[in-house]
Amino acid sequence: MHIGVLTGGGDCPGLNAVIRGIVRKGVEVHGYRFTGFRDGWRGPLEGAVTPLGVPEVRGVLPRGGTLLGSSRTNPLKVPDGIGRVRANLAAHRVDALIAIGGEDTLGVAAVLSEQGVPIVGVPKTIDNDLNATDYTFGFDTAVNIATEAIDRLHTTAESHKRVLVVEVMGRHAGWIALHSGIAGGANVILIPEQRFDLDQVCAWVEHRFRINYAPIVVVAEGAMPLAGQLVLKDATRDAYGHVRLSGIGDWLAHEIQVRTGKEARTTVLGHIQRGGTPSAFDRWLATRFGLHAVDAVHDGAYGTMVALRGTDVVRVPLTEATARIKTVDPALYAEFDVFFG
Ligand code: F6P
Repeated sequence: MHIGVLTGGGDCPGLNAVIRGIVRKGVEVHGYRFTGFRDGWRGPLEGAVTPLGVPEVRGVLPRGGTLLGSSRTNPLKVPDGIGRVRANLAAHRVDALIAIGGEDTLGVAAVLSEQGVPIVGVPKTIDNDLNATDYTFGFDTAVNIATEAIDRLHTTAESHKRVLVVEVMGRHAGWIALHSGIAGGANVILIPEQRFDLDQVCAWVEHRFRINYAPIVVVAEGAMPLAGQLVLKDATRDAYGHVRLSGIGDWLAHEIQVRTGKEARTTVLGHIQRGGTPSAFDRWLATRFGLHAVDAVHDGAYGTMVALRGTDVVRVPLTEATARIKTVDPALYAEFDVFFG
């Protein structure tokens, strides 16, 4: 059997560990042959391929990024995109495809699967907002990086008695903000799921100074004030219709400074959260996803995605995985009220 593999969307620490798991078990246990498709859906769309075998996955386990490259190419937005993808899979005599990606990449996989293309999905997003899986790899690494940043910001905030705002990733879901904010002992955590009250944020900031500490405010890039809109880096949309976020941290620091009279600065963590070596947990989870994905192909379980449920890796329909995103429950967010201010 000949299997194609691609990685699409924003990259994520652990992608190489998934590819390694797929190839090692596919070759050594099932006797399969692999071809890598370059840069997400651009590979099958344009017939851009790269060799993929055991030699290509040697030494990649601790490396961030993806050896196959990634992009946000959307075949559904290209004239006859799906037809071209099918034609290129046939031209390269690919019997099955493993697509590693988030809601966008797997949304295309679901459409192809409905048209009879044999596909298995692997969930990927540092935002951890994919429905149907408890965790995605890359999230733990991002949380660790953000937590370390918050730890470091505490000491300099204290020295200068400043408000330090930390902007983290999280377009629709505040998982990175909530986990890193709690782990790092932040005094305010703002997430996309709940519009925030600026007066309340300023009250928490002032309370923190009153008890002689300097406040750390963690804000997800997709968070919004009660009155106001998303703050955008620019309004151009990618092939999946997403605008570029970032800027809420600067906006918030400015508003806090004006309203409280306390000096406020911003740190935007940006792609530092996505780059570099994956955590041990992410290597473990990504490896398991890779092993289970190639087994799903072996079993002919097409149209499914591997997912973590508790400590088990299970198979769920691709359509279930992409039907809606997983957001922070208000009750979970409320658990941490005691730490605000
Ligand atoms: O979807 C994952 C994510 O990291 C989001 O948190 C962020 O908004 C987006 O990707 C940024 O992606 P890029 O910089 O690759 O366009």
